[in-house]
Amino acid sequence: MAGHRVHDDIGEILFSEEEIRAIVARLGQEISSDYSYIDGVEHKLILVCILKGSVVFMGELMKNLTIPVEIDFMRVSSYKGTYPDGEPTETLTLERDDIRNSDILIVEDIIDTGNTLNWLVNKRFPEKYQPRSVKSVTLLDKPSRRLPGLENFKADYTGAKIEDKFVVGYGLDYNQKYRALGYVGVPKPEVIA
Ligand code: PRP
Repeated sequence: MAGHRVHDDIGEILFSEEEIRAIVARLGQEISSDYSYIDGVEHKLILVCILKGSVVFMGELMKNLTIPVEIDFMRVSSYKGTYPDGEPTETLTLERDDIRNSDILIVEDIIDTGNTLNWLVNKRFPEKYQPRSVKSVTLLDKPSRRLPGLENFKADYTGAKIEDKFVVGYGLDYNQKYRALGYVGVPKPEVIA
């Protein structure tokens, strides 16, 4: 990590690289166990990475699975407020014809208001893609930030719950910066002022 001058912008490290490795290994074991029937032929599991923040987590998670998986990518633009008022839009869609016969695991880096993932799991996938099943995994979760009506919403697999702090690193950004950091940290107040 030497050479990352951006380290100077980080005031607090919430999860070190080692801690994240342990969290992702645990998630990999849980998911592999639950999906042990997946053989990649009769039963296919597609990991769907929600760009861009989830790309680092997705890369590490897939290496920690002992079942065969395929991968794909989606991009979703969220607005504040629950749908239908603030319905997210897909700005990069899944272009494949085998989703109806597949199990889908949506891979997110963080749940904040819950709007994006709730829409994907409970509306978009069931209505548009109609997979055999759809579940979700998130590395981080900020339960205190949920929109009214989504207080009880959570992913099927959660890496760690965190307080309502602005976090960057391991894929997460501030103005597109800090995604390449290997750890999750909180920028110094003057950096995000
Ligand atoms: C983040 C994150 C989730 C969403 C969570 O993405 O990756 O998709 O916000 O927020 P919510 O629970 O309030 O819907 P963002 O829009 O920042 O895009 P990025 O991943 O490209 O940084």
